[in-house]
Amino acid sequence: FPPPSGILSHAAMFAGLLPARRLDSHKGSYGEVMVIGGAHGMMGAAILAASAALYCGAGRVYVGFIDAAPAYDAQHPELMCRMAAELDFSKACVVIGPGLGNSELTASLLARALQQAPYVVIDADALNLIASSAPLRALLLARSQSLKSSIMTPHPLEAARLLGISTAQVQADRWQAALDLASQFQATIILKGAGSIIATSQQPLCINTSGNPALASGGTGDVLAGVCGALLAQQMAANDAARMAVWLHGCAADQLVEHACDAIGLTASELIPAIRNCLNQQ
Ligand code: APR
Ligand code: MG
Repeated sequence: FPPPSGILSHAAMFAGLLPARRLDSHKGSYGEVMVIGGAHGMMGAAILAASAALYCGAGRVYVGFIDAAPAYDAQHPELMCRMAAELDFSKACVVIGPGLGNSELTASLLARALQQAPYVVIDADALNLIASSAPLRALLLARSQSLKSSIMTPHPLEAARLLGISTAQVQADRWQAALDLASQFQATIILKGAGSIIATSQQPLCINTSGNPALASGGTGDVLAGVCGALLAQQMAANDAARMAVWLHGCAADQLVEHACDAIGLTASELIPAIRNCLNQQ
C-alpha cells in the first residue's frame, strides 16, 4: 500500500485554514448547518451533532427531525428544531445520518440532500442507505461532477457495507479500504477508529495521531460529523475540513483525559466544549 503521505501530528498544521472572523462579519458569514436525523429513540444523536456544529462556529444550526420535533432543546436553545421535510437544503451544509434510521422517508431526504445541498456530511445510517441503493450512489457520484463537497464518515462496519467486504478485511488494510472508498464514491473519506485515515481520490492519504480509547463511547461519531459540518459551512475545502475535524476531535479527547476525567467515562457531550477550546487554541 502507499505510505502515509500525511501524518496529522500537531496543531500548527492547521494554522490559518479556518477563515478569520472579520470585524464586520455576521452570522450569515459563517454558514448554515442542518443536521438531519434523530428518529424516535435516537434524537440525542442529532442533537449531539448539531451542538458540535454550534460550538465550532457555524452561523446558524438547524436540526431536522424525522418522526417528531421538540419545540426546542432546553440545553441548546440556539438550535432551531424542525421537521426534516420542512427544511430548504439549497444553501446549507447538510449533516445527514446521526440517528437517521432506515425508511422510505429517510432515503428520500438523503436523495434531496445529495441533489440540493452544496455541502454534505454523510454519516451512520445515511452511509448504510447508500450502501444498499444504486440510485443514491449515483446521486452521490453526480455531486463530484458539479463540484459539490461531500465528506463520508464511516466506522469500519459502515466502510465494510459500502465496499461489500467484511469488517475484518477493512481493518486488515485500512489504507486500501480508505482509498477504495474515495475512488468508488468520489468523496472525502474519514475511515474512523484508532488512527483515523482521511482519503480523497486526488490528494495523498493522511492518518491522524490525536485521540485515544476514551473516545470509544456512544455518540462521539455524531460529534465528529457535526464538527465536519461546521468547518465545511465556514467555507473550508472538504479535505482540509475533514483533516482538521478529526484532529480537533482527538485533541479534545486527549486534553480531557489529561486534565479532567482520565481514561474512563468520557462522554460525547463533554467532548463538545473541549473541541471548542482546541479550535480556539489553533
Ligand atoms: N482511539 C481513537 N479514536 C477512537 C477510538 C480509539 N480507540 N475508538 C473510537 N474512536 C473514535 C472514532 O475514530 C470515531 O471518531 O470515536 C468515534 C466513534 O464514532 P462511531 O463509531 O460512529 O460511534 P457513535 O458516535 O457511537 O455512532 C453512533 O451511529 O455509526 C452509527 O452504528 C453507529 O449506531 C451507532 C451510531
Ligand atoms: Mg456513528
